[in-house]
Amino acid sequence: MINVTKSELPNLKEYQEYVKQIWKRAWLTNNGKFVRQLEKKLPGYIGGKLLSLVTNGTLAMQLAIKALNLKGEIITTPFTFPATTNVILWEGCTPVFADIDPETYNIDPADIEKKITNKTSAILAVHVYGNPCATERLEKLAKKNGLKIIYDAAHAFGVKYKNKLIGSYGDISTFSFHATKVFNTIEGGAITTNSIQINKDVNLLRNFGITGEEEVVLAGINAKMSEFQAAMGLLNLKKINSKILLRKKIYELYKRLLQNNSSLKFQKLVTPDYNYAYLPILFSDRKTRDLICAKLGKKGIKPRKYFYPLTNSYKFLTNYLNPFNMAKSFPNAVKISDGILCLPLYSELKLEIVEKICQFINKYTK
Ligand SMILES: Cc1ncc(COP(=O)(O)O)c(C=O)c1O
Repeated sequence: MINVTKSELPNLKEYQEYVKQIWKRAWLTNNGKFVRQLEKKLPGYIGGKLLSLVTNGTLAMQLAIKALNLKGEIITTPFTFPATTNVILWEGCTPVFADIDPETYNIDPADIEKKITNKTSAILAVHVYGNPCATERLEKLAKKNGLKIIYDAAHAFGVKYKNKLIGSYGDISTFSFHATKVFNTIEGGAITTNSIQINKDVNLLRNFGITGEEEVVLAGINAKMSEFQAAMGLLNLKKINSKILLRKKIYELYKRLLQNNSSLKFQKLVTPDYNYAYLPILFSDRKTRDLICAKLGKKGIKPRKYFYPLTNSYKFLTNYLNPFNMAKSFPNAVKISDGILCLPLYSELKLEIVEKICQFINKYTK
């Protein structure tokens, strides 16, 4: 079975050496040595002047919303993983959806502008598949309307936009280091910011609001990363540049072999400094996409329909949203979500398999 991704693993012996060190120190979590080492190294890869490691990318977004003290409405994209929408609800705010750009698949600033009300407190934008959002336009819009910006950079490890690392944008950027991501710490995540105050607040929030042995100053939560996760991260970091280069080779082969297929399109990348996290292809309609997906499945190839369905079409959301917010009013997002298919992409994927997948897709669609 060829899955859409395969976790990147370090050398087992090296990991065992790190585990031995953890055993020796008998310090398993709570800002241990490996966590501190990883926290120092990561800004060089993802940006932001200040960085806090956390348990996962979902808690990273929750802490971001809490640290910015957001209330009311948060404008976001429906073309994303459930976490982006769910955290808004979990933090007691209301998601208000804006449509996406049909080429980049990122949230459309022009549609955001139409959705701003006096209840809007922030924009939660996703760099979809690691492709950077229209940051200048979003930041102008935020400034004009007194809004905060959080970037969900779960897919954007190592990406640069306009020569700046992606985690340097917005009030806060959040990352996921889940096992399926370009860089993983098994489960894990990070919060980057350029603000000393926000960084202080985040660090307090991730550790129960504890300031001293006898003092707790706010209702924080447990979002700490463990030493085992950080050890995985330190080792995966050693090989990250070569892994991204291998991904690039695979990505480019897919593009070359599928470029003459008129029944599909590619996402428009807006930066050359990309991480090749995903290989999404877009079919003209759901029927063709589903057919190819099913046929590949029968051959042991498991692409994924990221992101289908749209998050604003979840049934449970009818309890929270007015009809204006539900999926049908988002023509671009509906079209992309209906046609999208992410093909297998990971550093160890054999080029012969890529060739076979492309031959197969070309045969059934041309
Ligand atoms: C866009 C996006 N945001 C957030 C998350 C949540 O990250 P995590 O799984 O680390 O909680 C994911 C997870 O895959 C994601 O794809």
